[in-house]
Amino acid sequence: MKILVIGSGGREHALAWKLRQSSHSERIFCAPGNAGTAEIGENIPIPASDLEALVRFAKENRVDLTVVGPDDPLAAGIVDLFAAEKLRAFGPTKSAARIEASKIFAKELMRAQKIPTAEASIFSNSSEALRYCERAKFPVVIKADGLALGKGVIVAADTATARSTIEEMMNQRRFGNAGRRIVIEEVLRGTECSLHALVDGKNYLLLESARDHKRALDGDQGPNTGGMGAFSPANNWNRKLQAPFEAEIMRPLLRGLLRGGIQFRGLLYPGLMITSEGPRVLEFNCRFGDPETQALLPRMKSDLLPLLEATIDRKIDTCAIEWDMRAAVTVVLASAGYPGKYEAGKSISGLENAAKLEDVQIFHAGTRRAAGELKTAGGRVLAVTALGLTIEDARERVYDAVSRIHFENCQYRRDIALSAVAANIEKLS
Ligand code: AMP
Ligand code: GLY
Repeated sequence: MKILVIGSGGREHALAWKLRQSSHSERIFCAPGNAGTAEIGENIPIPASDLEALVRFAKENRVDLTVVGPDDPLAAGIVDLFAAEKLRAFGPTKSAARIEASKIFAKELMRAQKIPTAEASIFSNSSEALRYCERAKFPVVIKADGLALGKGVIVAADTATARSTIEEMMNQRRFGNAGRRIVIEEVLRGTECSLHALVDGKNYLLLESARDHKRALDGDQGPNTGGMGAFSPANNWNRKLQAPFEAEIMRPLLRGLLRGGIQFRGLLYPGLMITSEGPRVLEFNCRFGDPETQALLPRMKSDLLPLLEATIDRKIDTCAIEWDMRAAVTVVLASAGYPGKYEAGKSISGLENAAKLEDVQIFHAGTRRAAGELKTAGGRVLAVTALGLTIEDARERVYDAVSRIHFENCQYRRDIALSAVAANIEKLS
């Protein structure tokens, strides 16, 4: 089969790497890809935002399956465009992608289905939102309704911060139309957990649990990022949580979508807060997580390709996934300044030295090759994953690998999965 992976991050490198291992895959294209995907397939210089060009490429090259990595093309309707041309693509349609692309749509669906989530108010008028803040109990979480590159969620500790956030989002349109409407909700306390599910419209198959590290700096300090590291399995997830999660979150969600005439087919993952009263939904994502995917796929023993196909063909109920019971820890190496302004074009060295370590996998994100030399080309540059018998073991291995990789002003967190070192996988399974 000819497969096209859309996107250019660590998630897409991990997807291409895993799909390459399938006995059914003949050729892998990545659009636009990075220096890592160029080593396992062919990079096509089409940005993920150029939907028409992607359709044309898939048609002309008789691509059998397209896998869409990022949320933006899904929200823009890439899967609908492919379907109109009778091209197979893995991912939800535009209307189904609203579960991520509109926080208000997701919140209203959760309310209708009584899915446990933060208490929230919805505003389409800034004076009403400002008035609400006069009597709100702080802190509150303020969210732009639409996609804002992961930057549209602000925890406001006091009225002044809330006022300026509302002003920026709704009046100055810092995130464009994404901030035309906002959600103001209560702060949930607890620890976060990502549960990925392959959803075929009616049924779903859960992947192993994972935890992301969203803040830029050690000790969960600094600004929110796309994700600075991940590990799997999550130490705050266990079998006892799974049955209520399925009964109170997954099943009602799919029922609610179907009731609204929406068949979600693709990867859906709720970001959860595990509170003292049980899991609460923070958000829904309509695609694989980054960097969770870089921790999950090295643990997946099964072939990913038939799983994606079964999702599209509404047969996920006939599938099972075999997992490596070892733990995976993923550390993201970023350019100094990320998630703000950063410099690119720095030479990267030591990758071969790190890659030869046993059970270590290096996924590229913002990298490119120039005159044969590997250079940084993005905020998140690499994601390094190691497997280990315990989280502690995987941590040691991953940081050994990370210490061998160099580029100027490389920034990474030293505490990925540190909160889980006491836990071991026997206890979790
Ligand atoms: P979201 O895009 O809604 O998941 O928000 C991004 C991040 O903001 C989440 O991963 C959490 O770390 C944080 N967050 C969002 N909503 C809440 C909430 N109600 N309480 C506490 N933290 C939140
Ligand atoms: N890891 C967070 C995300 O992919 O949105």
